[in-house]
Amino acid sequence: MRHLMSPLDFSVEELDKLMEMAEDIEANPEKYAHVCDGKKLATLFYEPSTRTRLSHEAAMLNLGGSVLGFSSADSSSASKGESVADTIRIISCYADICAMRHPKEGAALVACAHSSIPVINAGDGGHQHPTQTLTDLLTIHSLKGRLDNMTIGLCGDLKFGRTVHSLIHALVRYPNVKFVLISPEELKLPGYIRKDVLDRQNIEYREVVRLEDALPSLDILYMTRVQKERFFNEEDYVRMKDFYILDSKKMELAPKDMHVLHPLPRVNEISVEVDSDPRAAYFKQAQYGVYIRMALIITLLNIEV
Ligand code: NCD
Repeated sequence: MRHLMSPLDFSVEELDKLMEMAEDIEANPEKYAHVCDGKKLATLFYEPSTRTRLSHEAAMLNLGGSVLGFSSADSSSASKGESVADTIRIISCYADICAMRHPKEGAALVACAHSSIPVINAGDGGHQHPTQTLTDLLTIHSLKGRLDNMTIGLCGDLKFGRTVHSLIHALVRYPNVKFVLISPEELKLPGYIRKDVLDRQNIEYREVVRLEDALPSLDILYMTRVQKERFFNEEDYVRMKDFYILDSKKMELAPKDMHVLHPLPRVNEISVEVDSDPRAAYFKQAQYGVYIRMALIITLLNIEV
């Protein structure tokens, strides 16, 4: 049985297959409309979500399956003190596959150790968010036609932003991918990723504070929100929250073929005036999230199409 804990759980070849299937799903949705008839997806969300939970659910519904689950810890027995290990044992009796989001790093890993159904990590604290990465890879691949030979700017909360952590792990496997890490000093990429992933694999990167200094050199700009819920005090969050605001004026510094991605939700870091710029790809990105999760569910359930 296969789970998805990190984007590295799939080889580059397997990722290519997954993206190929997602592209086929986009082109021929009717071909996939019944491949999960009779199957159930459980969504176990101990942390808020809009896109990740609903796109998993939409994905299963589009495949002919059904969904059950909870969308906050308060409405589950976690509020009575039930452990993740016990909860997943029970969910294994009710569903064929599950997607779990939890505020604690490693929670999904605990779940898969006690699960008899495939577990998808839908975000574990500030650690990883592999299905967002699958979405991001599919988006970049669809926009650029490649995942190699590019310069990616990652901007905002690189310390707590799990989408950035997972995306870096995934992208370093493609040749000649360079990074520009754009963050304030306090929100820099953690050392365990900078040293153990980038330095160890000799990946070219530079760290800058000013977005303006990075923009002209980028193929992709990946904006992120300051992760309010992971701050230890409100004061630090308030000081950091509007550090970056991408607006039309700054977009003038960017190449004509650069694309702006954002896992969403956005707060203030992308001004709404950028939405009408043809380079803004974040809403399209959310749509790709459904196709890739459909391909993921089919793959983890080992269904032949
Ligand atoms: C991200 C997350 O939950 O980490 N959201 C998402 O799943 N699209 C990003 C965020 O919350 O900032």
